Amino acid sequence: MKIAIVGCGYVFDIYMRTLRAHPEITVLGVFDINPERNRRVHDFYKFRIYDSYDALLGDSDVEIVVNLTSIHAHFEVTKRALEAGKHVYSEKPLTKSLEESARLFEIARDNGVRLYAAPCNIYSDMVRTMFKAVEEGAIGKPRLIYAELDDNPIHLLDFDKVKSPTGAPWPLEEELREGCTYEHLGYHLVWICALLGPALTVTAFSSELIENKAAGLPPYVGTPDYSVACLHFASGATARITCSFVAPRDHRMRVIGDKGEVVGDSYRHYRSPVYLERYSKTSLNARKFQTLRAHPLLGRLFGIGGKRLPLVRNWKSAAVMKDQTQRSSMKQRLLEWVRRKEIYAQDKFVGIAEMAKEIRENNPQYLTPEFILHVNELTLLVQGAGTHGLATTPKTTFAPLGPIPGTQTAR
Ligand SMILES: NC(=O)c1ccc[n+]([C@@H]2O[C@H](COP(=O)([O-])OP(=O)(O)OC[C@H]3O[C@@H](n4cnc5c(N)ncnc54)[C@H](O)[C@@H]3O)[C@@H](O)[C@H]2O)c1
Repeated sequence: MKIAIVGCGYVFDIYMRTLRAHPEITVLGVFDINPERNRRVHDFYKFRIYDSYDALLGDSDVEIVVNLTSIHAHFEVTKRALEAGKHVYSEKPLTKSLEESARLFEIARDNGVRLYAAPCNIYSDMVRTMFKAVEEGAIGKPRLIYAELDDNPIHLLDFDKVKSPTGAPWPLEEELREGCTYEHLGYHLVWICALLGPALTVTAFSSELIENKAAGLPPYVGTPDYSVACLHFASGATARITCSFVAPRDHRMRVIGDKGEVVGDSYRHYRSPVYLERYSKTSLNARKFQTLRAHPLLGRLFGIGGKRLPLVRNWKSAAVMKDQTQRSSMKQRLLEWVRRKEIYAQDKFVGIAEMAKEIRENNPQYLTPEFILHVNELTLLVQGAGTHGLATTPKTTFAPLGPIPGTQTAR
């Protein structure tokens, strides 16, 4: 499948980390409105640089346009690609207006092309492993989900000095102005809604807690750096999702059923550990003892936290892992080991690979347009909830998605 990428900023380099594990995808060229970014990316990756976005869209060999532009540009860039008859994969959030997002899907339909959106962490081995445990009844009926996306106190971490391998600065101002909810809520909404279906109601609160987060910005940028949302589902289950740029990093994902709990460590590490605890009176009572809680090994003996599950794989993860085993010197092998453990942790290209596979095989779109619109609507609602809170019924809904395609057995 031949693709072209528009927007060559910070996230572009994160996508590039795993490109070589997807040989069925060819990047024909790239374009950014900033000529300096085009130059740097050409020097580093040797990609063809289109003279303009029109030139990119005019390349009849391009089948998929990948939109990695800033959030404010998403609508226009995606719209033009769809109108040019290209399939589009867009970074999140799809747009900042439900009407605009719905319009994009209309344009896609009218032009006979498909529109997909990040995040793609639902295709990770860890989410697949959590889903498999739930689908097999390991925790009984899912009743409650707790999902954390605290991403560290952003004002303490010198993000203004962070740069990608090709020199793109981490877009601190943009991240603060858009906020943690636009940037991160989707990572949890995709797996929660895929598991439990559409939310029937949403109750949310959002607030800006920290002033003076970055030099050159007003004390308060007017965008929440903290949000919490409670979603209610048709099955009776509830999910509580918290996002912040305020509290220390915590990305835990817990699905709590009436017979046990399955816990993932982070949405951001695609092979992060997954633990299953099937409740027993012993494990539940053991939690009451400080001595056992304070000594994790001892606690485990009594069943606290359950057992680590072997990760199932997605159809691509073997390729991603295999790609790491070709160097020979001790130093290279050590570097590869670290890359395998960390850098390849987040395969952002897997969403494009899944999209390309569905198009190639003419399979229905697993993450349906209605699903993507629902995730988009929930994100916008939670961001806008404010300190007086919001309790509402989303306008959008979707048909249940079923199991994630391409899950392979554990190894
Ligand atoms: N920064 C991250 O860690 C991260 C992680 C995951 C997802 N994302 C998402 O990726 C997207 C881009 O984020 P980023 O961090 O790379 O931002 P960025 O500001 O570093 O890069 C955006 C790039 O898009 C270019 N651009 C803007 N408008 C354009 C247009 N009309 N045509 C062509 N190029 C245009 C800019 O010149 C810039 O180089 C956002 O949707 C963001 O939410 C970012």
